[in-house]
Amino acid sequence: MNMHPTPDAARELAQNVALPFEQARAMPRSVYTSEEFLARELSEIFAKEWVCVGRSTQFAKTGDYITADIAGQPVMVLRDGDGVLRAQSNVCLHRMSTLLQGAGNVRSVVCPYHAWTYNLNGQLRGAPGMALNQGFDRHDYCLPQLRCAEWLGWVLVSLNPDAPDPHSHLQQAADLIAPYGLENYVQTFQEHHHWNTNWKVLAENFMESYHLPVCHADTIGGFVSLEEMDCPPSGAAYNYHTILKDAAAPLTNAHPSNTTLSGDLRRTTVLLTVYPALMITLTPGYFWYLSLHPDGPGKVKIIFGGGLSPDYVNDPKSHEHFAALKDLLDRVNQEDRGCTEKVYTGLCSDLARPGHLSHLERPNYDFATYLNDRIQGRS
Ligand code: FES
Ligand SMILES: [Fe+2]
Repeated sequence: MNMHPTPDAARELAQNVALPFEQARAMPRSVYTSEEFLARELSEIFAKEWVCVGRSTQFAKTGDYITADIAGQPVMVLRDGDGVLRAQSNVCLHRMSTLLQGAGNVRSVVCPYHAWTYNLNGQLRGAPGMALNQGFDRHDYCLPQLRCAEWLGWVLVSLNPDAPDPHSHLQQAADLIAPYGLENYVQTFQEHHHWNTNWKVLAENFMESYHLPVCHADTIGGFVSLEEMDCPPSGAAYNYHTILKDAAAPLTNAHPSNTTLSGDLRRTTVLLTVYPALMITLTPGYFWYLSLHPDGPGKVKIIFGGGLSPDYVNDPKSHEHFAALKDLLDRVNQEDRGCTEKVYTGLCSDLARPGHLSHLERPNYDFATYLNDRIQGRS
């Protein structure tokens, strides 16, 4: 496959972001539809940046694991016998079958093809029927190890040995949301979804709340007003905006026992995108997130999870409220699915033209700039 973007998609994106924000338009349709541009996104972005695979609390016990596909590479993340959270290749070192499936708990990693068996740290422990091969020594075999980091409770994986440490790379984003104590929020659900849209259409949908009163008129649209949205310029590794939610929105306000949040922060929702594809909605009472991975230009794989802030975890009523909230989030997600799939259908049309952006779409403009930098090989 040609690993360079079609000149059109990359050039059109560069032209798009050359305009100042005050005159900006939505990104050109080619960046959503081009296979070559997607290949470039995988090699320049998803294979080089940190990708979120879940929350630390999913790896409470030795042997807890999940599998993921990052830029086409099958990987496993697991808690090993020394308590280390480890990311490694999920491909057998014999005839290259994938090893683990889905998520679960294992004592060792046994290949489903000929039972080569690996310790949780990736060392080959045993391989049946290999004693007569004079070149074989099991000590020569260890699954390739990948970068794995925990940041505010997120488990991040990178295929790039030179990726910057997320603790410094994302320090500004961490400072921004420090009063919420996100690392202590408790995940109560995680699901996998698959939608018919480009990953950037869904990412951009998350980055603006301009669509809330309309797309979400039947759910949360009434809890927000366009006048109470703040969309400041972004950092290099993230963008965000904030909205003030009506006190009637369930679980959105700080718990009465919370003493760390004051003033408007007690009812502020932060919508933070950690580039390239981790999107976090953070409120004083709960959080939810999407971690996206492209699956072709027109499909996106989604990890959708969320849970409660520690103030609410011990409140028996809050679980009841959260069940109601989850029901609401599911409906909100369905509305977003409808809107983002319509956008993908629309932008595939030859008649599609990108229009001007609202001042409420500042993060979208900053995201386009970030994409352009990466596609051009700048970090
Ligand atoms: S491919 Fe894994 S044991 Fe043969
Ligand atoms: Fe939405």
